[in-house]
Amino acid sequence: MRKQKVVVLTGAGISAESGLKTFRDADGLWEGYDIYEVATPEAWNRNPALVREFYNMRRKSVLEAQPNAAHMALVNLETKFDVTIITQNIDDLHERAGSSNVIHLHGLITKSQSSQNPLLVYDIDGWELKMGERCELGSQLRPHVVWFGESVPMIETAAKICTQADVFLIIGTSLAVYPAAGLIDFVPHDADKYVIDPNSPTIHSISNLKIIKEKASTGVPKIMQQLIK
Ligand code: APR
Repeated sequence: MRKQKVVVLTGAGISAESGLKTFRDADGLWEGYDIYEVATPEAWNRNPALVREFYNMRRKSVLEAQPNAAHMALVNLETKFDVTIITQNIDDLHERAGSSNVIHLHGLITKSQSSQNPLLVYDIDGWELKMGERCELGSQLRPHVVWFGESVPMIETAAKICTQADVFLIIGTSLAVYPAAGLIDFVPHDADKYVIDPNSPTIHSISNLKIIKEKASTGVPKIMQQLIK
């Protein structure tokens, strides 16, 4: 019998209890940094050293962080379900927890890419991407991150996967940023949907939606237990 398909959309909230700041909570990440100074192509062209430094600091925190019970619960789901994780996060905590299918809509902080050809992607060894490190075409390497105003190459793949969901979990995202937030519209009407978030983001009239107003580290294991039973 076909394994039921569980599709998971995660955001910064699932990594909050691993010590990585979210974007929109009070002491959010952007504190002290205007996103237009550090997370747009214009910022990179204007001041690549500042942008590099910003992501080097974030990369250091990611490398020091550990996956939490929510990441682990999603790995356990794979024993009974065909699980695909679509994450807006650029940390690699899902991978380090052991999840098999992870799609990064907004890139991955542990990798760099050519400034000339975004298809040329490289692993970053350690926390620091240095000025002067060049791609095979000779351009300065930049973070492999989708900046505001840039296209989201994986969005079509992600939308197609959402159309096949039997169960859809939304964990730790304010659903404030498109096109990621629009993925819920691709989920079949009769699929079971769950939101796990202590502040439960605004979701207008979605069918079959259960809201679990809890932190990910307690809410996700609970849902995992329910689904596996
Ligand atoms: N457990 C679960 N959810 C949590 C927790 C927690 N411990 N702590 C906070 N949250 C929730 C918040 O209530 C909020 O709804 O996580 C969500 C975080 O929302 P954002 O900070 O907006 O993060 P996210 O939705 O991932 O942002 C999307 O915006 O800044 C861009 O590209 C960036 O990928 C990011 C995108």
